[in-house]
Parts: sequence; C-alpha cells; structure tokens
Amino acid sequence: MSNLHNILEDLKNISIPLEPLRPYFGYLEPKLNEKTISVHYNKHHLVYYEYLKENKIYTLNDAIKTHNHKTIDFAYQLIYHNMFWKSLSLENSLDKFEELYPNFKSDFYQILSNSFGSGWMILIKENEVFTWKFLSNAEPYNIKKILLIFDIWEHAYYLQFYENKTEYFETLLSLSNFTYFQNQMN
Ligand SMILES: [Fe+2]
Repeated sequence: MSNLHNILEDLKNISIPLEPLRPYFGYLEPKLNEKTISVHYNKHHLVYYEYLKENKIYTLNDAIKTHNHKTIDFAYQLIYHNMFWKSLSLENSLDKFEELYPNFKSDFYQILSNSFGSGWMILIKENEVFTWKFLSNAEPYNIKKILLIFDIWEHAYYLQFYENKTEYFETLLSLSNFTYFQNQMN
C-alpha cells in the first residue's frame, strides 16, 4: 500500500504543475553528452507532457484525481524527469555526500543490484538516516521527500554507454548535485 500512501501524501501537497523543465542539453558535457540529453528530453520526457496536455491534466493533483493508472504514471514520470535534470551538476561534490553519508556509493550499488527492471533511484532520509531506494517504473513517491533522483531506464544511457550500465551509474554518482540536495533538505 506504499504507493497509495505516497499518492495521498502528494494530494495533500500544493498542486505541482506538470510543465516540463527543459535542460540546456550540453550542461553536463563531457560526462553526459548533449545528444544523450537531447534525445532523452525530446523522445521521452516531452512525450509524457504531450499526453498530459492532450488530456487537460495540468497538475499532479489533476492526475491523481483521474484514478487512471497511465495518467498518474505519466505525471510522475514528468515530475521525476524535471527533478532528475536538477539532481545532476558538474560541481563535483561527491566528497560532500560521502561526508554526510559514508556509504553513499556502496549503498547505491547494493540497492540497485537487488532491484529489477527500469525505474528510478531516489535518495531519501528515513528516521534521520540517509538511504537510497529503488522505485520500480514510475512508482509514486512523496515528491517532497526526494532529495536526489536518478533515471535508471535504458533510454537514459544507451546512446552514450550502450550496455555499460556501471559506467553510467558511476557518472550519475559523480554528477550528484549537492546544491539541489541541500535545497530539497530545507
Ligand atoms: Fe528518462
């Protein structure tokens, strides 16, 4: 029932607009290349937005109230992608994360290795302890509790890394945005 719980938590939140955040496609060069981000945005992120707009769904609450699985799924996909672009930066602050959360990298790999299929990795704080959590597909999670989010769908990396997922995961961790994380903590 955790999905339902998270959906209800989000219903209590202020309406989250379902507008796509378009990143500057070259903002993570050379670590994540411009083409990978441009295809990711245009062929995946925008598709969720176009579907929602076509169905006159403008906020997360609009989506939740439809009780339609696809609509809710697409709304979370849209929001998760917006948050994903903000979770990445070239600021190089892995050491700051490791200072706060020494198992930042090892836990990420361990939780991911016990997970199956496409989804999202989120960094959260539970009972005052940081932890990574895997969300299958676009599983709803209370948006306000997500401190960082990484896209673990094949479409996020195949153009640049092919089947080399580990290199992609290493790249994500090295791009973890500490400024965004701090904003989410407040
Ligand atoms: Fe994606």
